[in-house]
Amino acid sequence: MSSIDIFKTIDSLISSVSTNKVIYYVLLVALLTGVFKLTTFLLSLGTLILEVFIKPATDFKKYGANSGKFAVVTGASDGIGKEFALQLAKRGFGLVLVSRTQSKLEVLATEIESKYKVDTRIVTFDASTDDESNYANLEKVIYDLPITILINNVGQSHSIPVPFLETSTKELKDIITINNIATLRITQIVTPRIIETVNKFDSKIKGLILTMGSFGGLLPTPYLATYSGSKAFLQSWSNALSGELASDNIDVELIISYLVTSSMSKIKRSSATIPNPRDFVNSTLNKVGSRSGAQERYGTSTPYWSHALMHFGIANTVGVYSKVANSLNLKMHESIRKRALKKQARLANKSKESATDKVE
Ligand SMILES: NC(=O)c1ccc[n+]([C@@H]2O[C@H](COP(=O)([O-])OP(=O)(O)OC[C@H]3O[C@@H](n4cnc5c(N)ncnc54)[C@H](OP(=O)(O)O)[C@@H]3O)[C@@H](O)[C@H]2O)c1
Repeated sequence: MSSIDIFKTIDSLISSVSTNKVIYYVLLVALLTGVFKLTTFLLSLGTLILEVFIKPATDFKKYGANSGKFAVVTGASDGIGKEFALQLAKRGFGLVLVSRTQSKLEVLATEIESKYKVDTRIVTFDASTDDESNYANLEKVIYDLPITILINNVGQSHSIPVPFLETSTKELKDIITINNIATLRITQIVTPRIIETVNKFDSKIKGLILTMGSFGGLLPTPYLATYSGSKAFLQSWSNALSGELASDNIDVELIISYLVTSSMSKIKRSSATIPNPRDFVNSTLNKVGSRSGAQERYGTSTPYWSHALMHFGIANTVGVYSKVANSLNLKMHESIRKRALKKQARLANKSKESATDKVE
């Protein structure tokens, strides 16, 4: 059959279908697409409500609670990391506390041991240096411990929102080294210990690796570009690891959070959308194994109720990668930067005045 014959056949087929029939099929396809979209939306909304408000808390027995097992927590001396340490000790885990300041770690270790009667080790570690001796020291402390949990919590953001081109080289390098390089290296050191522990117990217990992501990584965030990129990196890395370690019986989850009161966020007063670290970590641990607000993502959880509703709302309306989300985020961080610069100028003036007073 020549190509002219083929066109003639197609033409006669089209002309044999009446206009009414065409309209009917177009409407049918539109209706089926609408029904499919509505069904998937309602299913994920139902799962969100179930996971955030109804599902019972995760039982940490499956990770070896109250049986002499250990959890490693990085950035453990303050904020969210300190709460992870306290609440895992309360659930019956020994602790390896990792962060920079020895004195803060010692105080926390004493508090944990006296309150919860669990074994505690400390590792002082400046994650910004990427120094081999840090990793060697961590390896030495944990080599014979039955570890089942790793909390990759350590992280640094920009001191104030800043255009990428004005970001200092030190701040840029610190963020990437702490958030990414140190997190990856620590995971390479701790995970073999988790695999060993799980295998020893014939896979009757599981391992767990939680990594702190952020709304800054969920939504590309102008004026926090390096931090935003570092957390987006953790998202993909953690999700990939989750696939690799499933056959080793290790659950791997990225935790997404909007603001939490802490010295990093510089927010002191909690509210419905900004919980304190205690409430945030309680939700996070209770909801291990659920996606909560992160219904569209694999291996990810947005556990705190108001953050979950925000994440779900953005993902199902404007979308996390949209121009609208990006420009709203830009406006918000431009305004935070303006206020932060004004505050810095006020403080600089004050210290100049007090220096002049001293001279006089
Ligand atoms: N707070 C929020 O609003 C928020 C929102 C989303 C995600 N997050 C994420 O949650 C995690 C914890 O944040 P946070 O607000 O709890 O922070 P934070 O209150 O500032 O605490 C940071 C912890 O990390 C340690 N640390 C800081 N720099 C370190 C370094 N170079 N080496 C080793 N340890 C270091 C600190 O202890 P030392 O000073 O003693 O070392 C401290 O224990 C971060 O990954 C952050 O990105 C926080």
